[in-house]
Amino acid sequence: MGTASPVGCKAEPFPREAGGRRPGIMKAAVVLLAGLAAFTAYYVYLPLPSPVSEPWRLMLLDASFRAAQQACNLAHYLGLGHHLRMLNFIIGTFDKLNPQHAEQVKITDTQFDSVEVRVYEPPAKAEKALRRSVVYIHGGGWALSSARGSFYNNLCSIMAESLDAVVVSIEYRLVPDFHFPAQFDDALRATRHFMHPEVLAQYRVDPSRVAISGDSAGGNLAAAVCQEMSQDQNETGRFKLQALIYPVLQAFDFNTPSYRQNEFTPVLPRFVMVKFWIDYFNGNYGFARSLIANNHTSLDVGPASSFRDRVDWTSLITPRFRKTYKPVTPTTGEAEILQAIPSLLDVRAAPLLVEKQVLRLQPKTYILTCEIDILRDDGIMYAKRLEDAGVEITLDHFEDCFHGCMIFTIWPTRFSAGIRTRDSYIQWLGENL
Ligand SMILES: *[C@@H]1O[C@H](CO)[C@@H](O)[C@H](O)[C@H]1NC(C)=O
Ligand SMILES: *[C@@H]1O[C@H](CO)[C@@H](O)[C@H](O)[C@H]1NC(C)=O
Repeated sequence: MGTASPVGCKAEPFPREAGGRRPGIMKAAVVLLAGLAAFTAYYVYLPLPSPVSEPWRLMLLDASFRAAQQACNLAHYLGLGHHLRMLNFIIGTFDKLNPQHAEQVKITDTQFDSVEVRVYEPPAKAEKALRRSVVYIHGGGWALSSARGSFYNNLCSIMAESLDAVVVSIEYRLVPDFHFPAQFDDALRATRHFMHPEVLAQYRVDPSRVAISGDSAGGNLAAAVCQEMSQDQNETGRFKLQALIYPVLQAFDFNTPSYRQNEFTPVLPRFVMVKFWIDYFNGNYGFARSLIANNHTSLDVGPASSFRDRVDWTSLITPRFRKTYKPVTPTTGEAEILQAIPSLLDVRAAPLLVEKQVLRLQPKTYILTCEIDILRDDGIMYAKRLEDAGVEITLDHFEDCFHGCMIFTIWPTRFSAGIRTRDSYIQWLGENL
């Protein structure tokens, strides 16, 4: 909007008598710029839920991310490459502009059972003292971002330093080059390798003080790996804690109250999340509308019935979050969706769907949720199911924060929501690990 006036000022020096053409051009330019500004404002402006902190900054972040996604979708449509690969390239480029957090943490890139990992070791204090440790799995819809990018590099450095802990950040393989269960397998293989007593000893880690953690799709992988490892017969290799940051935990119901309330809010609208799920399973985008209608888990789809009570938010979440929303449970749907993508109900992809016997084996759990997030209820439902199974649980809910905020702590994407969620998460780890 402000761009229009400098141009108007520049018009002054031109002599009026220059045929009246220049003022004409200037007028057209001003009109064009005003139009552009209006369009930009329209593009950037989003009606946000009232409690959100720093709304304009969030709108700008969302508009930039949306513009990048739309450019990539167009390029994808034109056959120039997969949109997610291009989007990840843009994120990687943007990432390089961010300053790297320079602490006294030793950073090593290595492989655990042929999976890439980045290990953060705090400066040694006492010569033989054992340290705490966090296995961290980054988010990004199983398709975006990197353990080595500045967002996660900074987060893990700060964690290593402030917790005096060895942090292992897993560089799992991404969609669209790899699909489920490759991401899960990578996370599991690297974690199992690290949890071997010899490897823990090599990093001077106390085996009884290791946590597994991750945000968003990384929270999904962390929960799934934690479930899988809790069922190992081996008594070694158990986690003391799990900490899940706005995790994505189910693809059964895309009409939970939080999915509906935040259908179009930044930075993760519902249709974008549904497409992340479809890409994770290498499925067909043609199913997106049907998934959003819950047609894949309608009452006449047999395989869905045994999971229904595990995502029944009418009993798993409190009225405060339920508000006046009613469940969307079609009587007739499309059985062919689960035939084409059976993994939609695989607990390694959707850890919320796991049976109660496995929930009982989970360690003490921290779940961070944000009000402005379609995934809020995934986290709340998992917290409730774990609590019902006897697991000690901390649900840390942020009323004015949005999905993905925890990595946005450094200019130009510095949000108070990012600082507050990160500090609360690290504080919980500090007190409980
Ligand atoms: C159990 O732990 C031992 C010692 O680290 C390891 O060698 C073995 O592979 C583990 N077994 C299973 C089933 O994970
Ligand atoms: C859901 O399934 C029903 C019954 O098969 C069908 O009539 C309806 O069009 C489907 N909805 C969507 C959005 O595809």
